[in-house]
Amino acid sequence: MYFLGIDSSTTATKALLMDSAGQVLAAAATEYPFETPRPLWSEQHPDLWWDGAQKSICAVMQRSGVDPAQIGGVGLTGQMHGLVLLDAAGEVLRPAILWNDQRTQAQCDEIHRRIGKEKFIQITGNVALTGFTAPKILWVKENEPEVYARAAHVLLPKDYVRLKLTGTYAMDKADGAGTVLMDLRKRDWSDEILAALEIPRAWMPPTYEGPRITGFLTAEAARATGLKTGTPVMAGGGDQAAQAVGVGAVCEGIVALTLGTSGVVFATTDGPFIEPEGRLHAFCHSVPDKWHMMGVMLSAAGSLRWYRDTFAPLHSYDELLGPAANIPAGSDGLFFLPYLTGERTPHPDPLARGAFVGLTVRHKMTHMTRAVLEGVAFGLRDSFELMKSAGLGEITQVRVSGGGAKSPLWRQILADVFGCELVTVNTTEGAAYGAALLAAVGAGAYSSVEAACEAAVQVTGSTLPSPEQVKAYDKIYPLYRELYPALTSSFKRIHELR
Ligand code: XUL
Repeated sequence: MYFLGIDSSTTATKALLMDSAGQVLAAAATEYPFETPRPLWSEQHPDLWWDGAQKSICAVMQRSGVDPAQIGGVGLTGQMHGLVLLDAAGEVLRPAILWNDQRTQAQCDEIHRRIGKEKFIQITGNVALTGFTAPKILWVKENEPEVYARAAHVLLPKDYVRLKLTGTYAMDKADGAGTVLMDLRKRDWSDEILAALEIPRAWMPPTYEGPRITGFLTAEAARATGLKTGTPVMAGGGDQAAQAVGVGAVCEGIVALTLGTSGVVFATTDGPFIEPEGRLHAFCHSVPDKWHMMGVMLSAAGSLRWYRDTFAPLHSYDELLGPAANIPAGSDGLFFLPYLTGERTPHPDPLARGAFVGLTVRHKMTHMTRAVLEGVAFGLRDSFELMKSAGLGEITQVRVSGGGAKSPLWRQILADVFGCELVTVNTTEGAAYGAALLAAVGAGAYSSVEAACEAAVQVTGSTLPSPEQVKAYDKIYPLYRELYPALTSSFKRIHELR
């Protein structure tokens, strides 16, 4: 038996084929752009995901030569929170409004006003943030009433691919929780929240645990992808939950740290653990009956990419980062704030901006490079600190993955800033791999998600903190924490200048 994982991310739709022992046979990705038609906006047409899924599935099937009859299931994952609005016939009504769109602050305030912020946190586990789905629905109602009037279905990005594959409207519980329309404890839609926001219950699809079968491939989708009619499609999970499955972060104590464009600190919890002020996200996990807490930095490896593309476009990352190893902890008094696209955790502020603070004539480019790596590490430490102060149990292991984790220097800085060991694992294919594992569990190849992770994921390397550097960073980190509060009102006025 073989299993497919499909990941519709912001930049590409990837397909990955794995055997029942968890070995990856082939992977392919089809890239696409996203649009920013206005400041703070971020949109993408759902056709791009379906087109990308067809191409990438065809590519892995051709490359591997596997008989489509041997595919035991397809697991889906993708960028979270994106609003896909469809009419009664399933036609897309407008481009999807993505997770990194920041236009809905007024709607977030309105949600808190209508329901009461505390009550909203108690039910959904979260505050309403611009990135989440619920405020986007309100934005369409207010700004595009003609679109809203025709709406009949709300889906998330990967669930649009599911609709195309199976003809069924369905969603997994992990991604569903990221709409902030769910009752976190019940793991299903909250009638109270839907009623208060006047969103018809009938627009929301049924929700399923990650490994559950949600439908079967239609004949039309089989022709388009080269798969077999009737192949089961499992619920899967939002990209962060699927990523956590992919690196085996499925039990309490093991934290997944992902250094992609965004940076994510993800901790599994056995119950719905809510940070009282909603400063961390609390969603369902794609492991049945588990939940998770999460801190999300919007520009993590994205900050480094911006820095390289802007200041050293001809350098490889190795050339750029190498010399920064010789700069002392704290970059000789230079700080970088990584809020290049606003921020979520711990500062839910679309208007936050990036900054270098503390520049002097003595600083060279190598200092700036190190300051970028350190600024991202400090920002991620903020999430760890929030988890600690919320009373989350002991963190026994941090599993690091994503493009940024390839740098040994960055891993060392992270271990030193957090003061704990980081480990890498053998599974480097991310969320698509997690989705394939969920499909394998759903097809009965493993007895549980935990058993699948146990069999497929092994620790391959470790980065230990250096006690001296830990001490140095413990002194420097409080200074970093002073900078955002000191600059908040300036960021707002800078935005107003436009
Ligand atoms: C998670 C989040 C991002 C997107 C990126 O809350 O918004 O990680 O899912 O794809």
